[in-house]
Formats: sequence, structure tokens, C-alpha cells
Amino acid sequence: MYTEILRIIEGGLARDPKKVYNYAKMLADKLGYDGDNKMAKMILRAIETGHTTTVSMDELLTTPVDNESRLSIVDVEMPAKEATTIVLPKLVGNKVSDFISIVKHQDDLIKNGIEVSNTLLLYGKPGCGKTTVARYISEKTGLPLVIARFDAIVSSLLGNTAKNIRKIFDFADNKPCILFLDEFDAIAKARDDQYELGELKRVINSLLQNIDAFASHNILIAATNHPELLDKAIWRRFNTVIEIGAPQENEITELLKTFTTDFKTDFISDEKKLDKAIKLMEGKTPSDIKSIVNNAKAHAIISGNSILKYEDLLVELFEFNHHGDLVIEKLVEFLNDNGIPQAAIAERMKISVRQIRNYLNKQS
Ligand SMILES: Nc1ncnc2c1ncn2[C@@H]1O[C@H](COP(=O)(O)OP(=O)(O)OP(=O)(O)O)[C@@H](O)[C@H]1O
Ligand SMILES: [Mg+2]
Repeated sequence: MYTEILRIIEGGLARDPKKVYNYAKMLADKLGYDGDNKMAKMILRAIETGHTTTVSMDELLTTPVDNESRLSIVDVEMPAKEATTIVLPKLVGNKVSDFISIVKHQDDLIKNGIEVSNTLLLYGKPGCGKTTVARYISEKTGLPLVIARFDAIVSSLLGNTAKNIRKIFDFADNKPCILFLDEFDAIAKARDDQYELGELKRVINSLLQNIDAFASHNILIAATNHPELLDKAIWRRFNTVIEIGAPQENEITELLKTFTTDFKTDFISDEKKLDKAIKLMEGKTPSDIKSIVNNAKAHAIISGNSILKYEDLLVELFEFNHHGDLVIEKLVEFLNDNGIPQAAIAERMKISVRQIRNYLNKQS
């Protein structure tokens, strides 16, 4: 029994809750065997209620750093207090919910002898919501996100990469958190630039080993914009893989509604305008749509308008599509083609209707 007590003290001092948990359980078993059921029960209750949360959040505040640059190699984000807005196609949303359910019921599953690994690989174009999904999962499970940006880690000095990877996994191990490896493909991309093949192989192998050791009892999410760069060996490590694609009609509608909930608009409840806006937004990512809507809102506020108008949205959309060649004639034509009356165009552009007609005549 004294061995257990000693190990628990060691575990406590080393901030190793797993050790504390395991030896406390052993101690309870021994006490029960010796007939001290009351004490055994008290110990079990203490570890049952505390074992996932025993680690104080302070521990998450001292993040590991790169030896050379002394810069932190992870960021820790506490779960969002307010609901994370996310719009996903139905089936993608279902997969995300399934993953959350598994994480939430992990204890039950383990009790019933089912060991599920909680590893999720998210891939898709920039701005489709990979990071947002990770934040959403953090919010729904109440677990902080430990974010490691692989692009930053890989660009550090050669020999340090493997060390940094190890540090990240050690840091997140056995803490109540989700380890989120963002820009996960950076490792594979390094193949072309600063690494020689042997070195890179070693780094990838150490990454795989770390994932294996970590994933058996922790939650891991990785995200990449370049799934084609990842080795098969890496794919196999993830038991849930989700592609986040560009939003389709339904999602675009939902996104437009979500991003304008705090604003009166003249297009959300006007079927014709809304349909047109949806068509025009096709192929845009949620992030694009958000910035177009936000720019339109900013314009409305600055101009003292209490209503977000359809033409505001169109102007921002046009500007978004034509960063490099913003030509007023083209913008006027675009608004005209999309059904904005000439008087409204004139008002929006602060020019005369005659000028608008001039522009339109020039175009035709
Ligand atoms: N599916 C979505 N639903 C609602 N908002 C979204 C969605 N996807 C992206 N956004 C918004 O777009 C912004 C950028 O999204 P996010 O950072 O999640 O994209 P990402 O896929 O991680 O991109 P990157 O590959 O550049 O890291 C966020 O501010 C988020 O609010
Ligand atoms: Mg991201």
C-alpha cells in the first residue's frame, strides 16, 4: 500500500494525473480487498469525478517554445463561451456531430471495453471552415484547443523539428484538451525545400510514432488544405476523415441568413433577390461570403443606413471579384444587369442618373 501512496505523491508532484489515477485505483482495490470498503469508495469517487479535470488549467498557460527562436510553438484557446456559428452540408454536419458524441461518451465506451480512437482529419480549401469546425468541437465538448501550426514548426531549424513535434505531443498528453495540428501538410511540403530526404523521413516517422502513442487516449484533430500531399501512412492514423467542400445553394442561403441576423436587409425575405444573391455567391467559400457581407454591413453603418440593401451586397461582391480591375463602368453594368434600377445605382455611387446612362451606353 505504501508503494501506491508514494507513486501517487510522485504523480502529483510531476503533474501526471494518469499516474495519480492509476495508483489511486490500485490503492482503492487493495483497501477494498483488506475490507476497508468505505475508504476504497471515497478514493474511487474522488478519481471518478476528477480524473479528466484534475489537471488545472494553469498548466495550459505555460506553453512549450522553440529552442532557437524561443517562440511558443502552440497556442491554447479556451472553449468559446458564446455559440460558434457554423454552417455545414447536412452529411458533413452529421459526421462532425458523431465525432463529438464519441468524444463525449468516451468514458462509457471504455467502460464497456470499446477503445475508440478520437482522431479526426479535416481537409478542404482555405476558408471553408476547418479551424471553425475544430473550435466548434472544442465548444461542444468544453475542452480547450491546443493549436500547433505545423508551418511555423517546420520552418524552424532542421534538427529542431522532431524535437518540437515531441514537445507538442508531450505538452498535450494527458491534459483535458484537444490537440489541433493545423497546416498539417507543411511536413510533407518540406520535401521540396529545406529537408534532405533522410531527415524528412525521420521527422515523419517520429510524427507517426507520436500520433500513435498520443491518439490511443487523447483527442487529435488535424487540418490540411493539401490532402494530396499526405502519405497513406498518415491517413491511416485518422479514424474520421471529413472533407469540407465549398457551400452549395442550401448552405449559401444559410450563411447569408446567419451573417445578417443582426441586420435588417431588403433581400433575405425577397425571394427573387435572395435567389440571385445565392447564384452570384456560388463557388465562394463561407469565409468569402462572410467578408463580403461584413463589408456591406460596414458600408451601411458608415452611410447611416439602418437597412442592408441588396445593392450594397452586389457592390461588395463585385469588388471582391475584381480586386485588380475595379472599373466604374463595369460595376455600373453589373448592378444594372442584376436588376438594380438606375436611380438606385446613382444614389449608391453618388453620381447622377445621366452619368449612369452614359456609362451604360459606353458599355453597349
Ligand atoms: N462553414 C462555415 N460556417 C460558418 N462560418 C464559416 C464557415 N467556414 C468558415 N467560416 C468563417 O470564415 C472564416 C474562416 O474560416 P476558417 O478559418 O475556419 O477556415 P479554414 O478552412 O480553417 O481556412 P484555412 O485553410 O485558411 O485555415 C471564419 O471566420 C469563419 O467564421
Ligand atoms: Mg484554418
